[in-house]
Amino acid sequence: MDKILDKYSDKADAIINNGSCYDFVKTIPDQSVKLVVTSPPYNIGKKYEKKSNLGEYYNKQEQIIDECVRILADDGSICWQVGNFVTNSEIIPLDILLYPIFQKYNLKLRNRIIWQFGHGLHASKRFSGRYETILWFTKTDNFIFNLDPVRIPQKYPNKRYFKGPRIGEFSCNPLGKNPGDIWDIPNVKNNHVEKTIHPCQFPIELVERLVLSLTNEYDPAFDPYLRGWLDIGSGGKKQTPWNGV
Ligand SMILES: C[S@@+](CC[C@H](N)C(=O)[O-])C[C@H]1O[C@@H](n2cnc3c(N)ncnc32)[C@H](O)[C@@H]1O
Repeated sequence: MDKILDKYSDKADAIINNGSCYDFVKTIPDQSVKLVVTSPPYNIGKKYEKKSNLGEYYNKQEQIIDECVRILADDGSICWQVGNFVTNSEIIPLDILLYPIFQKYNLKLRNRIIWQFGHGLHASKRFSGRYETILWFTKTDNFIFNLDPVRIPQKYPNKRYFKGPRIGEFSCNPLGKNPGDIWDIPNVKNNHVEKTIHPCQFPIELVERLVLSLTNEYDPAFDPYLRGWLDIGSGGKKQTPWNGV
């Protein structure tokens, strides 16, 4: 990347701003971003957040989501990745809590992706939590979606038609299959190769799949909770800024 700035400019290759997203987002012009992809704080008292009541949390989330909708291009997408708010072993799924904010703008939910993983805290009074969700919304019905860069290997790649006009030909797509809406990707715990000092890291593979499928090359993307605005080249030129927090 050539030009990395800390203020908004449409000439930058990447913008990493160390301030608060609530201020920075106001500097981004209307409809200038093709993808908003983020994982906000969950209001569970991590080092980087102040736990508040759920009403206040909702209002803060509404404030940033309102702005994200404003800056989103008509053919763009918003992906909001969240887990549960947990108190006294009771869970409140944050995607269910926040859904009405997106609905207010008539955004269209294309997938509710389940991200499942193998490791985490062991619960003693309920089953251990082993998934989070990504709500993928588009602004309109005319949206960017590139399946080929994110296809995964077929279960039986050598299967062929055994009758009919295409007998003998491969019956499944040689480029691989649609990954579906349940994604089994290891979470970044202590021994993970991507692990940094960040207490709550996103695996690169997860965000990479969203960037590659929901943008074209060099489309601008925004992660409000990375404290930056990044020009991500997808499809062949993968830039995954996720660990830059
Ligand atoms: C759940 S983590 C996101 C995961 C992270 N992007 C990664 O590396 O995978 C939430 C992030 O939001 C950041 N954050 C919290 N409040 C913020 C604010 N007002 N503006 C920008 N970032 C904020 C935190 O520092 C934390 O890094």
